[in-house]
Amino acid sequence: MKIAIAADHGGFELKQSIIEYLSKKNVNILDLGTNNLESVDYPLYADKLVNSILNKESDFGILVCGTGIGISIKANRYKGIRAALLYDDNVALMTRKHNNANVMVFGGRTMNKDDVFNRIDIFLNTEFEGGRHQRRIDMLDF
Ligand code: RB5
Repeated sequence: MKIAIAADHGGFELKQSIIEYLSKKNVNILDLGTNNLESVDYPLYADKLVNSILNKESDFGILVCGTGIGISIKANRYKGIRAALLYDDNVALMTRKHNNANVMVFGGRTMNKDDVFNRIDIFLNTEFEGGRHQRRIDMLDF
């Protein structure tokens, strides 16, 4: 499984911690930047990550900005992208089961890294339930 990750300056430090965490688990990671704390525009990083998923270069994505909000708004403008802001553990579980979310989003200035690591584990270990949820997902992209 390959996971792409991207962040703006508000998410840079959390992105680095996530990469370190997932590397220890031997997850194949594609780091799409940013690579330092210099101010950048979060929509551009959402674009890079979305392209890697839509081109089937990556199976899942992780996006981080200061709050996780701006970068999720941009990612969710693309058909086929279901980006979920994982603000608690149950959301991490339910968004896989019901929404078949393919992008995890976190707030670098609003979340602590141990909570984030736990939510990534929950997300990656949960399967989509299909059935009536697939019908609803089919209604998202038109
Ligand atoms: C950058 O200062 C900040 O606005 C951005 O990281 C994010 O929180 C936007 O939603």
